[in-house]
Parts: sequence; C-alpha cells; structure tokens
Amino acid sequence: MGTLAKIVFASICVAFLAVKWTAPRFDAESLRGARVLVTGASTGIGEQMAYHYARFGAQVVITARREKVLQQVAEKCLSLGAQKAFYVAADMANESDPDKVVDIALEKLGGLDYLVLNHIGPSPFSMWEGDVEHIRWLMKVNFFSYIQMAWKALAALEQSKGSLMIVSSLLGKMTSPFVAPYTSTKFALNGFFGTLQHELAMRKSNVSISICTLGLIDTEAAMDKVRGVTKVPAYPATDAALNIIITGATRQPELFYPWFTYIVNLSKDWSFSITSYIIQNSYNYIP
Ligand SMILES: NC(=O)c1ccc[n+]([C@@H]2O[C@H](COP(=O)([O-])OP(=O)(O)OC[C@H]3O[C@@H](n4cnc5c(N)ncnc54)[C@H](OP(=O)(O)O)[C@@H]3O)[C@@H](O)[C@H]2O)c1
Repeated sequence: MGTLAKIVFASICVAFLAVKWTAPRFDAESLRGARVLVTGASTGIGEQMAYHYARFGAQVVITARREKVLQQVAEKCLSLGAQKAFYVAADMANESDPDKVVDIALEKLGGLDYLVLNHIGPSPFSMWEGDVEHIRWLMKVNFFSYIQMAWKALAALEQSKGSLMIVSSLLGKMTSPFVAPYTSTKFALNGFFGTLQHELAMRKSNVSISICTLGLIDTEAAMDKVRGVTKVPAYPATDAALNIIITGATRQPELFYPWFTYIVNLSKDWSFSITSYIIQNSYNYIP
C-alpha cells in the first residue's frame, strides 16, 4: 500500500471511530413501555427486532402477511417480557393495508414512539430478464408502502418525539449484479428518506429518521439466495436487529452494519473499474 493510500485509509478509520465514540449512549430503560410498530416481523431481522424490543419491555405491534407465524412471534414476545404484543396480518402490496396497519397500531397502543419499516417482498436473485411487472409490484411492497406508513404515522411520531427507522441495504447505495429489482427499491428508499431527513430537520421536527445500511445478514431468505454464490461474510440477524434498535433509540441518522459497510460505501466511487472488478468477481458466475 502506498503512503497516500495508507493516509487515506487511516483517516477513514479515525473518522469512523470518532463518529462511533461520540455517538450518544444507549439507555435500555428508555425502551421500557415504548410503543413500537415493526413491519416484516414474522421472520428474519424483523422477528429478531420484535424479540429485542420484547426483552426491553416495550409494547409491540408486529405485522407481515402470515397470520399464524405472527401469532407465534407475538406469543414469544410476551414470554420474553413485552408489556403488550399484538399482530396484524397485512399485505403491503395492497394499497389500503399500510394505512390500516398504522391505524390499528395507534389504536392498540394509544400512540407510537418507534415505527420500524423493515419488510421486503420476495425477489429473485438472478440476471434481469425483462420482468417489469415484478419491479412494479416490488416497488409497491418495498417502497410505496414505506412512504405511506411513514406519512400516516408522522403526526403521532411528532407528538411523541418519536423515531422512524428505515431498514435499507448497502445495495441501496451501490449496485451489484442479480438484484436489479431489489436494489432499485432500496435506492428509492434512500433517496426519499434522505430527503425527508433534511426537510424534518429544516422544520425543526421532533421526529428523527434513522436510515440503516446493512451488509449481508444471515437470514434464511438471504442465505438461500447467496449460498455457494458469494464469499461475502454474513452477519447475525440478532446483532443487526439490536444495532437497528439502538440506532433508533439514540436518534442517530444512520447506521452501517457491519462496520465495514461504511468503508465500502466511502470507497465505492474512488475507481469505477476497480470497484466493478471486485464486485463482478465476488460471485461464482459461469456464463
Ligand atoms: N438479510 C440480508 O442479507 C439483508 C441485507 C441488507 C438489508 N437487509 C434488509 O433487512 C430487512 C429485513 O430483511 P430479512 O432478510 O430479514 O428479510 P426476510 O427474512 O425475507 O423477511 C421479510 C419480511 O417481510 C415480510 N413480507 C414479505 N412480503 C410482504 C408483503 N407483501 N407484505 C407484508 N410483509 C411482507 C415477510 O413475512 P411474510 O412472508 O409473513 O409476509 C417477512 O416477515 C429488509 O429491509 C432487507 O432489505 C437484509
């Protein structure tokens, strides 16, 4: 590594550590009794977030499509210490369901302190073969429902000085093969909620927005897609979930998990050809 490269690398590490060390301290007690709505909570990272909130003694409403699974997750939340646990079966591709879920959560909890938008619809991990309808549908699930729910909940969050957490991805900041529909929805989320962060700050709003950028996480859905295809390391869903919760509770505007996604994001634009080479060669693909 040349001297300049070493200086740049060291500066990035120092900047990163400075941001980490100056982050506000997390007070677990602040979540006792907190009114929380988590989407996509029947499995994966959403399910793990529901359990963490439960252990912190929060009141949770969880949602996804599969009612039976949600019921089991809600029961486990109660056994882990949730003050209240409700579930609402809803399909985020349906135009009225995002509003319905927020209304039910507000009614059950009498307000809202945390809205965690996390759900994603299933999408193939393959080269794009022209399925425009799928992208249209996925945009409804992964993007339009997010902005609909955020808008519906904004007044309640304003009243409670609450937090809105958006679970996004490194694939919302940089492109990669095989995920065109998914990455489009995540770029859209980052663009929209990044803008909303500015606008709420300029209005001196009480609501904080945290945009959470995740790398590869070991959920069943993700691992089923990438097993044997990439050597990128996968990080534990329960740890990702806890980091998202802490980011929201401490009202930080962004999270990069695992930590090196921050460096990857910073360095991705230094050289198009090097970045493209690394990305394209991180997959086992034989044409
Ligand atoms: N895992 C990773 O490697 C990774 C990496 C970066 C970012 N992320 C982000 O982390 C979040 C969670 O990912 P994950 O891996 O935990 O996902 P997951 O395991 O696939 O879970 C997706 C959740 O969304 C729900 N869902 C799917 N379609 C829905 C619909 N039409 N309406 C309502 N709910 C629906 C699913 O439940 P039902 O089937 O019951 O509806 C499930 O609860 C996502 O925002 C994802 O982009 C994940």
